[in-house]
Amino acid sequence: MTKIDLSSFERANEAVSYLRTKLPEILQQPQVAIVCGSGLGGLADTIEPESRIEFDYASIPHFPRSTVVGHAGKLVFGLLGQKIPAVLMVGRAHYYEGHSIDQVAFPIRVFKQLQVNTVVLTNAAGGLNSEYDVGDIVLLNDHLFLAGLAGTHPLRGANEDEFGVRFPPLSDAYDLDLRRHAHQSWKKIISPESKRKLHEGVYAFCGGPTYETRAESRMLRMLGADVVGMSTVPEIVTARHCGLRVLAFSLVTNRAVFALLEEGMAGHEEVLEAGRAAAIDMQKLVVETIVDVFDR
Ligand code: HPA
Repeated sequence: MTKIDLSSFERANEAVSYLRTKLPEILQQPQVAIVCGSGLGGLADTIEPESRIEFDYASIPHFPRSTVVGHAGKLVFGLLGQKIPAVLMVGRAHYYEGHSIDQVAFPIRVFKQLQVNTVVLTNAAGGLNSEYDVGDIVLLNDHLFLAGLAGTHPLRGANEDEFGVRFPPLSDAYDLDLRRHAHQSWKKIISPESKRKLHEGVYAFCGGPTYETRAESRMLRMLGADVVGMSTVPEIVTARHCGLRVLAFSLVTNRAVFALLEEGMAGHEEVLEAGRAAAIDMQKLVVETIVDVFDR
């Protein structure tokens, strides 16, 4: 059998076998996986330096690589909050880079085979809800996956029964208990002077790489989306298929609609800059939530 014929279950197992040869006992089975979005890679710096082990994506069998500026492309293992074994993806592959939609989500299956039970996904997103300011954080509670509804779907093809059922439900995809923990943690970490807000909202996935036209943004808003971005949803769908608990956050890096033409244009630099400014609060929120969930 050639490599190309391997199922994603077999490929995930090969990736895990490779990683496990390099990991100490304590990091062999991380409890949580975190995917760091654009400009949010600083989360990896919260890992205790003594426990930290890094892998370039290029070194991991079958792992998709990111070519985007600002998305480094490394897998970082270590202890979060001193005792929670975690694995972090710094940078991710996107559909618009030319990967297939299932390949984009392949790392989630690697996490499943590593025995992770919870994934935390973060991303930079455009705000569609007029009440959201740049720098606000949105806890996702649902999504619109237009590409998926039209058939560009990570679970298309023969079902891999090792991971989950043919027709997985997604009505409970965004774990309520984890969201409760996130809200509690936000109260603990946000300074009373801060204007930054934590919202709950709906994320719309767009293939990219173009940002939305104004008409497209208005359409997504009318359909019920609060934020729009080019990632996360394929990963969430794949995570729910294999029974992982999901928590997802968007950092609003620009307003995708409502602003006048000049201020309403999204650009990659703008996205990275807003990410840098708000990344610290986002980082604290993610770490505090994970500690709150696991350190009992
Ligand atoms: N649209 C799509 N993706 C994005 C945006 C946006 O406005 N901002 C950050 N990622």
